[in-house]
This record gives sequence, structure tokens and C-alpha cells, in this order.
Amino acid sequence: MIKSSAKGGKRPRDTTPARALLAWYDANRRELPWRAPPGRRADPYAVWLSEIMLQQTTVATVKGYFETFLARWPTVEALAEAPLDDVLAAWAGLGYYARARNLHSCAGKVAGEHGGRFPASETELLALPGVGPYTAAAIAAIAFDAPCAAVDGNVERVMTRLYAIETPPRRTKALIRESAEALVPGARAGDFAQALMDLGATVCTPRRPLCAFCPWAGHCAAFRAGAPQAYPVKEKKLEKPRRRGAIFILTRGEEILITRRPQKGLFGGMNVFPSTPFTRDVPSEECLDFAPCPAEWRALAEPVSHVFTHFALQATIFMARPKGAPALGSDCRWAARRNLGKEGLPTLMRKAAAAAGLLEDQQGRDAWRGRRSRSR
Ligand code: ADE
Repeated sequence: MIKSSAKGGKRPRDTTPARALLAWYDANRRELPWRAPPGRRADPYAVWLSEIMLQQTTVATVKGYFETFLARWPTVEALAEAPLDDVLAAWAGLGYYARARNLHSCAGKVAGEHGGRFPASETELLALPGVGPYTAAAIAAIAFDAPCAAVDGNVERVMTRLYAIETPPRRTKALIRESAEALVPGARAGDFAQALMDLGATVCTPRRPLCAFCPWAGHCAAFRAGAPQAYPVKEKKLEKPRRRGAIFILTRGEEILITRRPQKGLFGGMNVFPSTPFTRDVPSEECLDFAPCPAEWRALAEPVSHVFTHFALQATIFMARPKGAPALGSDCRWAARRNLGKEGLPTLMRKAAAAAGLLEDQQGRDAWRGRRSRSR
């Protein structure tokens, strides 16, 4: 059991766990569209694309998007040359849209400054837009077999169990990273990284870990203590601040008013319905001050809820038809209702459109299915 802080000191290198994990991986690896067949190395472009998509998004959701992107933009040069708007529209539904803008900018940098080849070192990868420590380590390991440890939430969980780390991961990052690094084998570092991801996703799961199937059960301190699910030790949970606001849906025949957000800030550069600011709580009596034009605005009975990274929003949906030809902001335009699905609306706006009955059946169902999602 480890009470230690980040000053835990280096762990001795032990190659037994890596060998056990790689043998398990050879028999149990998941077939994923971005993975190379056994014994081969994946294309760095495909590895990078998948890793950016997998930041904050599940494997199940990413699979389809990854295949679509790769078919449409098969090389980093093709992606770099694509208009940003096309990339943002193809990204719609994946959430956290800053990732899509960084993806495009990173493609431009790799195509323009690296001759279309991703750099192989963790340090150079870290200098690319949208590539943080986890992603740099994952790309370096998977695409180039560099001996790097890619530590995300899943890997943190595995490490805190393996060594029964008694402190919440946020306060033991360095110890967890060191523990993972000490396990990386000299050969097959990419397979090791992916094996650890698969172990975390399929065996060492948060609630009911399948210890009977775990290649590390014999090494695992939490298993020995009979309480794997007690790790990682939880932080006291802070509630996200709650904010209220409103979204305005102005319809004119079969058209709906949409506007383009400024490049910086929430929904930067995206098409949205006009709304109150979401940077603060806007109580209902103030909401209509932000309407795009005077009209007989009617509120829907059910607000739409959406959880962002730093706050939880409850947005009232106001609907109206314009009287005559109102003066509208220069960033507003009328969009055809039948094309609404192609406007790349963020999830919150698709929920609003679905609540207002504006989406075709399948789009509406998809938007509602995403109701409880946390994407931007
Ligand atoms: N999560 C993050 N990266 C992943 C990968 N390459 N394979 C599976 N799950 C992942």
C-alpha cells in the first residue's frame, strides 16, 4: 500500500508484468479501426487522428467518425487542405470543438513544417497544436514504438490499483506516471500502451473489475487487499456551478435564423441559434434582452439541460416568427430547415432544435440520445 506523494521515488524495473500483459494482449486485443494488424506499426496519421478524437470521447463513438475522416481525408496533407468549415461540420457531434480547430491547425503544421511526416519524439509531438502529454506519449509509443507511458484516466485507475495508491490521482500524478513508465518494456512499447488501454477499458473497469481475467491479478495490491473497486481513492466532489440562459429559435416559413459565433470562446466559429451569453447566469427575466429581434417570443415548457466542462446549463427555448422584416445582426442568416443537420450545430443547439421539433426524425432522435452527453 502506498501513502506516498509524488516524491515516491523511482520504482525498480520489473519486466514480469509487461510480459504478462503483452501475452494477454496477444490473445485479447480489441479490433479497432486505427490499429495495425499484429506485428505491424500503424500509420502515424491514423494514430494521431484517433488519439485526438479519443480525447474526451468513447471508443464506440469515435469508430464511425474516424472511418469517415480517413475516407474523406486519407492523408495529413488532404486534411490540411480541407476548409476548416468542412472539418468542423464533419466533427459535429464529437464535442469539444476546440479539438477540431486544433486538428486542422496541427495538420497544417505537419504538412507545412514537417514535410507531411509526424515527428517521432514525445517532445516534438508535444509542440503540435492539440497534442498534450497523454496524446504525445500515446502517438510516440503506438506509431513509433518509443518507450513512453501514455497515462489517462484508465491507466491511472490500473496503476492506483496495482500499487494500492491511497491518495486521489490528482495529487499523485508524478508517482502514477513513474509507476507506469517503470513498467514499459524495451520492445513492443506501442503494444504495451494499447494493452494497458484495453486492460483499463475491458477488465480493470471502474465499478466491477473482472479480476478473474486479469493478467496482473497476481501483481495487484488492491486485489490482494480484496478491494480493487476502492481505487482510485475519490476526491470530495465539487458540484459544477449551475447557469441559466436562453436559446432563440426564430422561424420564417421553412427557414430558421442561425448565427456564427466569434472564433474565440465557447462554440468558437460554429453555427448556432442566437442565445444569451453562457458565460454567466442569466435569470429568466433578463433573457429576452438578448433576443435577436423584438417578436412575440414564447417559451417552451421544458428547458434543455446540458453539462459543459465547467458548468451545467439549463436553457429556456424561446420560439417566435418575425413581424415583417426585422433588423438582424450582420452575423445572422436564414438556414433551410431541411439542411439544419448539415450546419454542424453543436450538441446543445441540436438538442434545442429537437426540443423545438425542427429536426427530421433520425436527427431528432440522435440529438435526444445525446441529451445527457457532456460534449460542447
Ligand atoms: N483511448 C485512447 N487512445 C486509445 C487507443 N489508441 N485505443 C483504445 N482506446 C484508446
